[in-house]
Parts: sequence; C-alpha cells; structure tokens
Amino acid sequence: EKGLYPHYMLKEIDEQPAVMRTLIQEYVTPTGESTIPVEIVSEMAESDRIYVVGCGTSWHAGLVGKKMLEELTQIPVEVHLASEMGYDMPILSKKPFFIFLTQSGETADSRQVLVKINEMKLPSLTITNVKGSTLSREATHTLLLHAGPEIAVASTKAYTSQISVMLFLAKALGEKLGQEKAKGLDIVHELGIVAAAMESLVDDKDHYSELSQSFLNETRNAFYIGRGLDYAVSLEGALKLKEISYIQAEGFAAGELKHGTIALIEKGTPVVALISNKEMGSHTRGNIKEVESRGAKSLVIALEGLEKETDAIVLPHVHELVTPLVTVIPLQLLAYYASLQRDLDVDKPRNLAKSVTVE
Ligand code: M6R
Repeated sequence: EKGLYPHYMLKEIDEQPAVMRTLIQEYVTPTGESTIPVEIVSEMAESDRIYVVGCGTSWHAGLVGKKMLEELTQIPVEVHLASEMGYDMPILSKKPFFIFLTQSGETADSRQVLVKINEMKLPSLTITNVKGSTLSREATHTLLLHAGPEIAVASTKAYTSQISVMLFLAKALGEKLGQEKAKGLDIVHELGIVAAAMESLVDDKDHYSELSQSFLNETRNAFYIGRGLDYAVSLEGALKLKEISYIQAEGFAAGELKHGTIALIEKGTPVVALISNKEMGSHTRGNIKEVESRGAKSLVIALEGLEKETDAIVLPHVHELVTPLVTVIPLQLLAYYASLQRDLDVDKPRNLAKSVTVE
C-alpha cells in the first residue's frame, strides 16, 4: 500500500534508510557476528573467480559489488550482463562461483545463465527480494534483500539493498580468507552512517524538485559522469532518468567523454557529475571544465570534504566503499521529479514491466 504517498517510487526511495537498518539486523547478530550461512562463505572461499550476473539496475549494483568484493576478499570478480552471457559464455576460471543479482528472482535473461551453469554443475548464489522465486529455487544458495515489496518499475531500494548485501557478503568472505581490510571494516557503524545520510537526503525533497525543474526542464538529453564507483552510479542515474522521464540520458566514465561523446555537448546540455573520491574527483573536475567550456550546464554532486562552493549538492561524508548508497539518492529523486514534472506515469513507464520474464 502506498498510503499517503502519490507514487510507490517515492515511498520506496523514502524506505531506504529503514531497509539499511533492517539489513543490519538480518545480517549481523547483536554480538557482531555475520549471519551469512557458513556453507555459502566456505564454498566461495574455495573459488578463484566470482562471476556476478544481472540486468539493468541489478547489473549496475553488480558493478559496485565487484569493487567491494575485490577490495575485501582479493578474489577477482567479473560482472556480466545476463542477456549477453546466456549466449556468449566467456572462458571460465577453474573454480568459478556465480552470484545472480535479481530483485524479482524471475528475470528470464538471468535464469538463462543459471540454467547453463547448473548444467555445468557450478555453484551459485541468488541475491533476491523474493523468497521462493525461480532464481532462488534453482541456485545453490539464496540471500534475501529484505527490502519489502518493490512495486514501482524503476528500481530504487532493491539497488541499495543489493549493494549492502554484497558488502555483508564481502566482509564475511574476506574475514574467512584472513583479509585485514575485511576485519577492519565495521559495517554496522558504516551502514548506520549511511542510513542517517540517506535520511537527510530524502528529507530534502523540495531541493530536488527545484533542481529538476531548473536543470532538466525541457531538455531532451542529459549526461551523467563520474570515475570509479561514481561511474557505476552514473550508469544507474542515467537509467533511472530515461526509464521514467523519457529524457535520453547516458552515463559515462568521465575521462571517456573526450574520446567521442563530447561532440554531443551543446549550449545548455545538462551534465550531472558525481564526486565521491578525492583523487578521481580532481580529474572529474577537469572533465567538468571541459564540458562547461563547450556550453554544458553542470550539476555537481560532491561528498562533504570534496565540495566546491558552486556545487549543487553536498552529500554527508560516508566510508569510501559505500558512497554509491548515498550518491544514488539524489539521482533517484531527480529522476522522480523529472517524470512528475512531465506529467508521466512515474510507477508504470511506457513499454516496461516490473519483472521481465521474456527474453
Ligand atoms: O528483477 P531484476 O532485478 O532481475 O530486474 C532486472 C532489471 O529488469 C531491472 O533492474 C530494471 O532495469 C529496472 N526497471 C530498472 O529500474
């Protein structure tokens, strides 16, 4: 039930801080132990390479998960689009382990890959919001997103939940493998800070409504740029915008713009730039100058401590591995208001279904 909310999407954006707190309770005991079943962690610890598979927003969450898993476990991770992998299987490592990311647990493209790897008798884990869903039943293991039903076609809380569950998993696996970084990471503390940061952002909706009005009004296209994790979130921000506002939007690795795409920048083209990492952020600042000097109008979203006076949005500081959990919130809100201000059907955009059960 969406209650007093005009749309499910807005309700689901608002629920994200609560989902973070639920996940802490689900995945960590009061004495600080991981609740992730040992069978999962042991099986993964045997693996020499992790393959993360998903579509759309779940694939975007996978790009973030790769960084967390590699950082905390030192096991190499590949992230694949299910629709490609189903027909074009890469050369697999000797001991592969598969993670399927799927909010619905019913996505046909992802299932296609799972069927293939089951034929090869390879181990897998489905991370899903739906208990008993097809991909949950058919994989070796399941972890739940505990996000509550996600009704809006545009995925929001499932994305942040997927990232968080992968963080719990990465820490448990890293600890098992004796990795110091994993041992040193206090997830309960860091996700607590994230929940508070998310809260302050979702409480500031008027700001995003105004920004959307002034920045995205009447535009036919928009670009999102960033480096590293900010690049991964740029892809997600662009997908959110195009899905529900029908504005043509693309996410780019900031440094890649000058290799072609910058030709599209004209007077007034909106460019959203994410800056959540000090070193990479200074390079992104250079890219913002490049597009501005070609007439683009920029909207910079920076983490506290890395901001400049002209930045439109300053986000509360969070641990460097979890920045996507906060940088994505303004992008979700901008997309929501862009859709609303265009009088579109926010929760049920044209041509799309909530679960894509056909290939
Ligand atoms: O249920 P799944 O996570 O497998 O769905 C994958 C995509 O279809 C989904 O994330 C889609 O991209 C969303 N509508 C994006 O908001």
